[in-house]
Amino acid sequence: MSGISHHLLLCATASKAKCCDPTVGAASWDRLKQLVKQLGLEDPGRAAGIVLRSKADCLRICERGPVLLIWPDGCWYGEVTPERLEPILRQHVIAGEPIEEWLIQRTPMRCNQATAN
Ligand code: FES
Repeated sequence: MSGISHHLLLCATASKAKCCDPTVGAASWDRLKQLVKQLGLEDPGRAAGIVLRSKADCLRICERGPVLLIWPDGCWYGEVTPERLEPILRQHVIAGEPIEEWLIQRTPMRCNQATAN
């Protein structure tokens, strides 16, 4: 195994349902699970590393959902309908090119490394 390449967090069926229609959110979550499997993104032998997916109960954006956050890139996608998921996975996760027009926010991850003495 080559480690983890990305972690996808989707706010789709939040308990307070502030960012999207829960019906659309549930359909997006089902499509995400289907595509991750279909595209071999959770295959332990994937050279680039596996892709994790998690359903989040609110990512604190609360509008223009379903909201998808992709780590470690810090890219936040809005209005992630089932139809948008395949282009996002193919172009961003696999090819490494975020779809700029669908991004609603960027928060690059900062890692603090301890120095050994
Ligand atoms: S309810 Fe989806 S981001 Fe808050």
